[in-house]
Amino acid sequence: MHPLQCVLRMQRCQRWRPLASVSWVLLRTCRAHSGLPSTACSSPERQQEAGVWKDFNSRLATGPTFQHFLRNASVPQEKPSSEVDDPPPYLTVDELSGRQRKVYLETYGCQMNVNDTEIAWSILQKSGYLRTSNLQEADVILLVTCSIREKAEQTIWNRLQQLKVLKSKRLRSRVPLRIGILGCMAERLKEEILSREKMVDVLAGPDAYRDLPRLLAVAESGQQAANVLLSLDETYADVMPVQTSPSATSAFVSIMRGCDNMCSYCIVPFTRGRERSRPVASILEEVRKLSEQGLKEVTLLGQNVNSFRDTSEVQFNNAVSTNLSRGFSSNYKTKQGGLRFAHLLDQVSRIDPEMRIRFTSPHPKDFPDEVLQLIHERDNICKQIHLPAQSGSSRVLEAMQRGYSREAYVELVHHIRESIPDVSLSSDFIAGFCGETEEDHFQTMSLLQEVQYNMGFLFAYSMRQKTRAYHRLKDDIPEEVKLRRLEELITVFREEATKANKTFVGCTQLVLVEGLSKRSATDLCGRNDGNLKVIFPDAEMEDVTNSGLRVRAQPGDYVLVKITSASSQTLKGHVLCRTTLKDSSTYY
Ligand code: 5AD
Ligand code: SF4
Repeated sequence: MHPLQCVLRMQRCQRWRPLASVSWVLLRTCRAHSGLPSTACSSPERQQEAGVWKDFNSRLATGPTFQHFLRNASVPQEKPSSEVDDPPPYLTVDELSGRQRKVYLETYGCQMNVNDTEIAWSILQKSGYLRTSNLQEADVILLVTCSIREKAEQTIWNRLQQLKVLKSKRLRSRVPLRIGILGCMAERLKEEILSREKMVDVLAGPDAYRDLPRLLAVAESGQQAANVLLSLDETYADVMPVQTSPSATSAFVSIMRGCDNMCSYCIVPFTRGRERSRPVASILEEVRKLSEQGLKEVTLLGQNVNSFRDTSEVQFNNAVSTNLSRGFSSNYKTKQGGLRFAHLLDQVSRIDPEMRIRFTSPHPKDFPDEVLQLIHERDNICKQIHLPAQSGSSRVLEAMQRGYSREAYVELVHHIRESIPDVSLSSDFIAGFCGETEEDHFQTMSLLQEVQYNMGFLFAYSMRQKTRAYHRLKDDIPEEVKLRRLEELITVFREEATKANKTFVGCTQLVLVEGLSKRSATDLCGRNDGNLKVIFPDAEMEDVTNSGLRVRAQPGDYVLVKITSASSQTLKGHVLCRTTLKDSSTYY
């Protein structure tokens, strides 16, 4: 059925059920758009409808004005947990609630998806769902998906085949199993998923998680339900994500969503929509709560964290103009005003001096001096910068629409190293982008050698529909060449990272303890300021904050570790003492 037909049906029925298989998002808005009721209605049903319409019009006339909304515009407040949203007219409050059905959530892809899973769960929990980690006992299975590369999507298609079997084997005595696709893949493929996999009941794009209770309620009636509407302002500012691991020492805090950069290879602007920032006040409130819960590390999250710009209050908008990193440009018209990333970082880092602050993923264009200065000065802001280069060839960077040349990027690296002498650097690279020659590839290898990153994330190019590269460029590098170049990049990266990490041998590092090492029950594992994994034997040590006391490290403790060996991915050493973040600088 065409979505418009859904709209029309909605106007005629108080307790409406979609006739055909898909309940699209238009259902939500159709009441506001109803322009149909006419005085020519003759049936009692129509007359009743006309009455409702008249009543609606008179309420509209006496209702709030545009000025009223402007006056009352402010940071959205969190609803008390007992408060249930009004159901749409075709659902009862009972149908809209989870009624203790068990949800199994599975996350794929980036950290944003991990955070989105917590947001989706927070919404469902308030709506009366329970969470299960046992697939067999789930009533609802939700996959939070990724579309960034073809392989990520293939993983989901394969997973759906397994879930199909689970669904078909479901005992008749139990409620039917419902399956939902959330996130980027739902946004990108929309109808294709519903028609290809008839067993998928719910689709919710990255901006539609608030609608999950309604979508699941519609699915309960045996219909497919979808909301893939992208928003210009949804930041889930008022939804406190539910941290899934209560013993965790760190948490992710989403500060902005979407991306306006339009790098020519990237699907993100199409799946996650336009860039928008969460109000500073709500971010600070969440970080304060996490600090009170005893968490020791917060990572500020966003597709472009350092492009942060809170414009939620009018008075923020006469603030200073935008400073880009030297030699960098943006693909969009320069934005003005708003509270910028340096302001947010400053405020967040003042909340708890014992809480480490990280951020990911930034774009190299948004590193003005005030951000670098702050990272240098503030003890609890980690001296670690992810600086995605994508390629070492200016020619390829131009085709990628990255807004910088190799020279500007290298100059930025030098400037960062001068401003923050002990900084750790990491990067993303793509091998085999459209038109990449062997010479371009060598340039990327030489950039890896020149910068000597501590960490790296390397990918083979995967063509994505809708992107500029898909429309304008040719995916002309054979798969085997892409993979060979990727292997070569990995080899060079490892050699260089090993060299960079070996400079830590003999030094003392402040490590935030996470818990037991996965490889050995007698070793502990944690991370240094640069986010490198550090492994050390679980031994008794002095607690310098509590003179003379002998203790063993616990998750969430800061300990000093003397580094004795290093590889491309980990440091190893022995523990010296327990300390605090503030005091640690005097010991090394
Ligand atoms: N193919 C391969 N890698 C990609 N990335 C983004 N889009 C693609 C693509 N189409 C990589 C970039 C980005 C990281 C998150 O994923 O390196 O920084
Ligand atoms: Fe994609 Fe570029 Fe935006 Fe990163 S900055 S999410 S690579 S478009």
